[in-house]
Amino acid sequence: MLSLLRCPQIGSLLMREKNMLRCAEGHTYPIENNIPLLLTPTKSPKEEETRRKIQKFYETVTFPGYDDIDNPSVLMDKAQKSGFGKWVDEAISPISTVLEVGCGTGQMTNFLGLVSTRNVIGVDQSIPSLTLGQKFKEQFELKNVHFVQGNIFAMPIKPESVDVLICSGVLHHTPDPKGGYMELLKLVKPEGHILIGLYNTYARIPLGIRKCIFRATGNLFRFLDAHMRRKDVDSTKKEIWFADQYRNPHESWHSVDEVLRWFEETDVEFLSCVPGASGNLFTKHPQGSRCGHILTQLGWILTIGREGGLFVLVGKKKR
Ligand SMILES: C[S@@+](CC[C@H](N)C(=O)[O-])C[C@H]1O[C@@H](n2cnc3c(N)ncnc32)[C@H](O)[C@@H]1O
Repeated sequence: MLSLLRCPQIGSLLMREKNMLRCAEGHTYPIENNIPLLLTPTKSPKEEETRRKIQKFYETVTFPGYDDIDNPSVLMDKAQKSGFGKWVDEAISPISTVLEVGCGTGQMTNFLGLVSTRNVIGVDQSIPSLTLGQKFKEQFELKNVHFVQGNIFAMPIKPESVDVLICSGVLHHTPDPKGGYMELLKLVKPEGHILIGLYNTYARIPLGIRKCIFRATGNLFRFLDAHMRRKDVDSTKKEIWFADQYRNPHESWHSVDEVLRWFEETDVEFLSCVPGASGNLFTKHPQGSRCGHILTQLGWILTIGREGGLFVLVGKKKR
């Protein structure tokens, strides 16, 4: 993994010295519990203030939650049920370098790393979340999986080094989602793939309404959230979900056309969208029209709007 890591301050190579990494300019970064700590601040002080708030929040709310019985077959089962994890796994070649940014507790990172020929790296700023991912990785001896502490706006990864970059449920918690996307795209190889998951402007409306109800009633009627009614999820996981969705210090909402514009402006070809894709996520699907996108997103109010309202666009970086 060392060959993929870079000094987040000057972008140079890092050398291992006992329990730390050092760059040619002398910047040093500790390695604690096998996790390189390469987090450096965002340049803009105002944005750094928001990043810190979010970091603090996810140090307590380690999302998504694991429970004691989680093991590789439980992760596989979850992926089958959710659909998304299974489709991502099917689309990604068994021989590839995959980077998940904002991996949280690393469930997706560890799941994709169950294919031992993939090199999978999970980056997040929350140490308690990364520690849970690392614990799972060590327990099940996933030698090809690595966790690193880092900041999206000062990524400690070599440019154009990854085949697939996944960033789902993360950029909407940053003060500059488009800027974050552009930083991440730099890390993708030409012809590599990028998957961006964001809260949808339309599909998030029901949750916005529920949030107002919960605030006004001091969190009464929590059963209005479909996730809180689920019988197959334990109470700790439900609390983590509730905090992530309803008490988050910062979030923004985005439309399909907005992300398509990011793709156009950065020479990324649209391939597919979840929900909506059929078959392999990395094959070209019809892009549809603006009017069609509005109708589809209105429909999402009744489907993905029942939970978090997250959609994912998949793109391919042009040469
Ligand atoms: C809602 S969780 C998503 C976790 C995972 N991607 C998933 O979908 O289950 C958002 C994650 O983004 C991370 N995050 C937010 N801002 C970040 C930043 N600037 N740099 C690195 N990670 C960040 C948080 O620490 C948190 O773990």
